[in-house]
Amino acid sequence: MPRIRTGGIEAHYESSGAGAPTVCLIHGTGGAGNVWMRQLEDLAGMGRLVAPDLPGHRQSGGEAALSIAQSADFVASFLDALAVRRVVIGGHSMGGAIALQFALTRPDRTIGVILVGTGARLRVLPRLLELLAGEYPEGVRLLMSMALAAGAPADLRTSLHRLTFANPPPVVLRDLQACDAFDVMDRIATIAVPTVAICGEEDQLTPPKYTRFFGEKIVGCRAVVVPGAGHYVQVERPDATTTAMRDLLATVGGGPVLAKSRS
Ligand code: COA
Repeated sequence: MPRIRTGGIEAHYESSGAGAPTVCLIHGTGGAGNVWMRQLEDLAGMGRLVAPDLPGHRQSGGEAALSIAQSADFVASFLDALAVRRVVIGGHSMGGAIALQFALTRPDRTIGVILVGTGARLRVLPRLLELLAGEYPEGVRLLMSMALAAGAPADLRTSLHRLTFANPPPVVLRDLQACDAFDVMDRIATIAVPTVAICGEEDQLTPPKYTRFFGEKIVGCRAVVVPGAGHYVQVERPDATTTAMRDLLATVGGGPVLAKSRS
């Protein structure tokens, strides 16, 4: 898979498809671009899809960012390095926060938004942050225990665990500290491009309420709550997730919609 020099680091990214639009998909806490493999395969006919490993994650160099804004800056420089100006920006969990930050600060570059298992504010359980700071493996285990739907297969649990532990110890803590400081609740109504928000019905980390909030506040945003899935809905129910993303991509280019008032 390709690598590119950007923002002072060597960044690894997954890639599929070609042509317009470019869709950039950003992974969540302790993750990597390969959490989007099914979507990269299934949506390759709808444009060019790229999914970077964020700095300090899996195969990319550098250190994990300290804030969502810093990660959004990295995504912008990554897209610059690919010579991509306008993009459908999407993300899962922390990656969704990064996508929102990108869309809010770079509306001229954003032609669509895909929000998966995320929220406009991402407060983290204090106990989780405490454990990650003091007993890191215990903290990761607590996070993983809340990550999937009750009926998720054991092999999925194992591979998610392996992916998250593959990052060096501070990464999950840094990611969750960045999430904990993120709050754009009073700004998301200004998003004025086609948007879809998707989450699992059993998501404990970013509950369906967060996704419904997007549907209420962003004009034309479709909120999709998928039964039988937890926080990793794009992995647990890839077909339902891909279908909702495909529907969104079919509307991109249909022109801007009016932003909702901030009330
Ligand atoms: N979208 C919509 N509503 C939100 C929201 C979001 N992103 N984030 C918070 N809210 C709502 C809450 O539902 C709550 O509404 P209510 O008063 O009607 O019940 C209100 O805003 C206050 O929420 P918050 O400031 O987060 O405080 P809290 O005491 O309700 O919750 C936590 C704090 C950490 C316990 C809680 O956010 C939580 O359980 N988070 C999930 C676990 C976790 O750590 N996730 C990791 C995220 S990456």
